[in-house]
Amino acid sequence: MLAGKKIILGVSGSIAAYKSALIVRGLVRAGAEVKVLMTQAAADFITPLTLSTLSRNPVTSSVHTDESWNNHVELGLWADAYLIAPATATTLAKLAHGICDSALVAVYLSARCPVFFAPAMDVDMWRHPATRTNVERLQSFGNHLIDVEEGELASGLTGAGRLAEPEHILQHLADYFAEAANRTSLQDLAGRRVLITAGPTHEDLDPVRYLGNRSTGKMGIALAEAAAARGARVELILGPTSLTTTQAGVTVVPVRSAREMYAEAVDRWPESTDAILCAAVADYRPATVAPEKIKKGDGELTVAMVRNPDIAAELGRGKRPGQRVVGFALETENGLENARRKLIDKSLDFIVLNSPRTPGAGFGHDTNQITLVDRNKVTPFELKTKRAVADDILDRLADNPTP
Ligand code: PMT
Repeated sequence: MLAGKKIILGVSGSIAAYKSALIVRGLVRAGAEVKVLMTQAAADFITPLTLSTLSRNPVTSSVHTDESWNNHVELGLWADAYLIAPATATTLAKLAHGICDSALVAVYLSARCPVFFAPAMDVDMWRHPATRTNVERLQSFGNHLIDVEEGELASGLTGAGRLAEPEHILQHLADYFAEAANRTSLQDLAGRRVLITAGPTHEDLDPVRYLGNRSTGKMGIALAEAAAARGARVELILGPTSLTTTQAGVTVVPVRSAREMYAEAVDRWPESTDAILCAAVADYRPATVAPEKIKKGDGELTVAMVRNPDIAAELGRGKRPGQRVVGFALETENGLENARRKLIDKSLDFIVLNSPRTPGAGFGHDTNQITLVDRNKVTPFELKTKRAVADDILDRLADNPTP
C-alpha cells in the first residue's frame, strides 16, 4: 500500500531518532518516495547525510538557508502523508500550539495531507498532563497518533514512552492507505438519494440581529462528501456558514432559518431514500421580527418565542417503507436517555449521540466522538476526524439496504 506514496518524515531530537533511518529504509523499500525534515536537535542524534543517503533526497532542517528559502507550502502540498517520528515532548508542544520555529513545524502548518505523529520520551514526561493535553489537542485537529510502546527507556526506567517500532509505524501507514483505498472503491450507496441537513439556523430578531448557534456545518459537509464518494446523490440543505463543498454528487441548497430548512427538506423528502439530520436547528424563533432595528431602552428586553417545526419528526412521521431517517442528538447531560427518547419520539432508524463536553467533539472541531444508538444496540466509537465519523455513520446506513 505504500508503493508510489509521497511521504514526508519529520524527525525531532530524541535518542530514538536513530530509528528514523530504519523508517526511511522501510518506506523506500516499500516503494514510497521520502523527503526528510529534521529539527536542529535531531541532527545531534543522527546526521542529515545518513537520512539523505537513505531517502535519496536532500534533507531540510530550516525554513531557509543563507542562499535560499525552502518552500514549505510546496512540500506540504506534495505529500500524501506527513509522518513525524520521533516526536519529542517539545515538538508535540510546538505542533499543538503552532510555534513555527523549524521547517518541521512550518510544513505541518501548511500540510493538507493526513499527519501521523509517533511520540518518544521518558515515561514520566509521557504521563505528564502537559504532554497529555498536547497529544489530545493534536488529535482534536484530526492528526493520527501512533501510540508509544512500553519497554526499557533510555533513562533506564521501564514503562510507556518508547517510539513505536519502525515496522509498526510502517504497518500503521499501510493500514491507513489500505482503508482509504477501500473507501474510495466502495460504492455501497450507489442509487441512493440522501438528504442531509447541516449547519446552524439563524432566527431573525430585527433587520440586523438574529439568534443562532455554534454549528459550522463541518459534520454535515463531511457526511455529504463521504456519501457522494460512496455513490449516493446528495442534497445538502446547509444553514448559514462560511463553509461549503464543491464535491461532485452533492447539490448544496443554502438556507437561513429553521422554517426555510424545513420547507426544503419536506419538499425533497418524497424523492429521497435516506435523510441524515445533522443540522443544529433552532427549536424556537422570535414570535415577531421587528421591522426596524430594536432600540436600546433603560430596562430589560423580553423576547417572546414560538416553536419552530421539527424537521426530523416530520420526516420520521412521513416515512415510506424503505426510507430511513437518521438523527443527531447533541446532549450535555443524560445523553443516552435523551438520545433514546428522541429516537422514539421522532421515529428515527438510529441516532448519532455526541456531546460538546467531550474534548475534540461537537461544534467546530475537525473531529467528533459519537455513539450510535438504535432500539437494540448502543455502539460507542473513539474520537476520529469528522470524515471518518461520517463513514462510520454511513456504514450503519449501508448495512440496511433499501428494499
Ligand atoms: O456543524 P459542526 O460545527 O460540525 O457541529 C456538528 C454538530 C454538533 C452540530 C452535530 O454533530 C450535531 O450534534 N447536530 C445536531 C444538533 C442538534 O440540534 O441536536 P438536537 O439534539 O437539538 O436535535 C435532535 C435532532 O433533531 C437532530 O437531528 C436535529 O437536526 C433535529 N431537529 C431538531 C430541531 C428541529 N426543529 N428540527 C430538527 O430536525
